[in-house]
Amino acid sequence: MNASPGEEQAGRTAAIVPAAGRGERLGPGAPKALRTLGGIPMLVHAVRALASSRVIDLVVVAAPEESLDAVTAMLGEHSFAADVTVVAGGDTRQDSVARALISLPADIDIVLVHDAARPLVPEQVVTAVVAAVSAGHPAVVPALPIVDTVKEVDEEELVVCTVDRDRLRAVQTPQGFDRTVLQRAHAESDLGMTDDAGLVEALGIPVLVVPGHEEALKVTRPFDLIVAEAIVARRRASGVL
Ligand code: C5P
Repeated sequence: MNASPGEEQAGRTAAIVPAAGRGERLGPGAPKALRTLGGIPMLVHAVRALASSRVIDLVVVAAPEESLDAVTAMLGEHSFAADVTVVAGGDTRQDSVARALISLPADIDIVLVHDAARPLVPEQVVTAVVAAVSAGHPAVVPALPIVDTVKEVDEEELVVCTVDRDRLRAVQTPQGFDRTVLQRAHAESDLGMTDDAGLVEALGIPVLVVPGHEEALKVTRPFDLIVAEAIVARRRASGVL
């Protein structure tokens, strides 16, 4: 049973890192999670960001099936402040998360899902998500307000309407869940969602938004790599990385 908001949960916390995407929008090359930022694979940055928050006990990475050994060996070359295991991912992000979810030990109560494609998420975002789930919220997402004006268009690119951006949020990861809620959402919703909170919403369970961070950007296109490299360089110059 879920704790009510305000009621603390006990138990261990795991983070699932779906990292089995091809990263084709970044251009030709290695799977996205293995591409480097400041000489370090994006996946290592992502696992480190979660583990160094000290609120995660276990990180489970879903790697491309054909790169399972390479990813396991690569992670083994680094040390992390949490246990790290690797499972084979699936054909979709949702499959990859589901495969990691069934591998979790029984004593995990809180599960975060964090895209390897957001390697530079700041620690305070991770801790805020875990704190809100620990306080009894069954599902929590970090998000940012939208700065652009947003318009809905039809198939011919004609504007249908201008959307009220004050009530829109751009959602990031890590998304945090009470374990039983996330398992139910994966078992009962088969909607091909692009995030896990979408599956929980489909069950009618409330999802809380907490502040995200610009540096939790999703590295999807070549431009994002330039921004991410600049963030790594600035963090190194200030001794943070
Ligand atoms: O494709 P998209 O950018 O939405 O991917 C988000 C995250 O899901 C990435 O970290 C990617 O590696 C992961 N993914 C996965 N398994 C897939 C497809 C994507 O783990 N089959």
